[in-house]
Amino acid sequence: MKHKTVIVKNIARLMEAGESLMTRNAGMPGMGLLWGETGYGKTTAVTWYINQVNGIYVRAMATWTPSAMLETILEELGRPHSRRIHHMIKEIVAAMAQEGRVLFVDEADYIIENKKLTETLRDIHDLTGMPVILIGMSGIQRKLRGSKQLSGRMSQWVEFQKCDIADARKVADTLCEVAITDELLVHLHGKARGSMRLMVVGMGQIEMHANNRGIGQVTLDDWLSWDTTFFIGDAPE
Ligand SMILES: Nc1ncnc2c1ncn2[C@@H]1O[C@H](COP(=O)(O)OP(=O)(O)O)[C@@H](O)[C@H]1O
Ligand SMILES: [Mg+2]
Repeated sequence: MKHKTVIVKNIARLMEAGESLMTRNAGMPGMGLLWGETGYGKTTAVTWYINQVNGIYVRAMATWTPSAMLETILEELGRPHSRRIHHMIKEIVAAMAQEGRVLFVDEADYIIENKKLTETLRDIHDLTGMPVILIGMSGIQRKLRGSKQLSGRMSQWVEFQKCDIADARKVADTLCEVAITDELLVHLHGKARGSMRLMVVGMGQIEMHANNRGIGQVTLDDWLSWDTTFFIGDAPE
């Protein structure tokens, strides 16, 4: 398998939302939310996108305090920490505004459960005018609607969708070193239930079995005759 980010429809959705946030009119709020089930490709999409727009990526942690969050953002900006919270905020605001950086916060479920973290991010957004995009698991969109501080500032809501067959084909053709027939792809797609992670794991398994047998194309009949299952180690359905 090749290691590459495939530009699937969810990534196009993220790009469109990012573009709208960066080119919005003055005075318009500039926060965004991206959510979806685990394995749908959120982190991969954001990691790819920050390289296109010189964004800052941080991953929230259960143990974050406002200072821990600010220190992490400063590290990503390559700026020194300080012990004083308000110094750190000033430094971040100056750097983001001068350099025109967009901030992405992954695993943002931890953020919105914490009032201080929520307010600190809102301050960064308000003071810099730069977009701040939160990434979280399904369900975060409902919790966020209950948070007045943030929901009023959200102007882009992007839900990551299930991987469809066309995306699955694109991923197979880009990443997989053996050919997978349409019939087998549809079979794998059904088992993966929309998860990009499971699609890629399954393609890796197909490729491994094909390589062991020295064949360059795998059909559904081949796969079924090998008496194996997709996603070993996964919890049963
Ligand atoms: N666009 C993509 N191109 C290639 N592989 C992808 C893509 N999106 C997801 N994947 C694969 O799926 C796995 C899980 O995706 P990830 O971004 O971690 O999902 P999430 O953050 O939504 O839980 C990645 O490790 C990668 O192998
Ligand atoms: Mg993730």
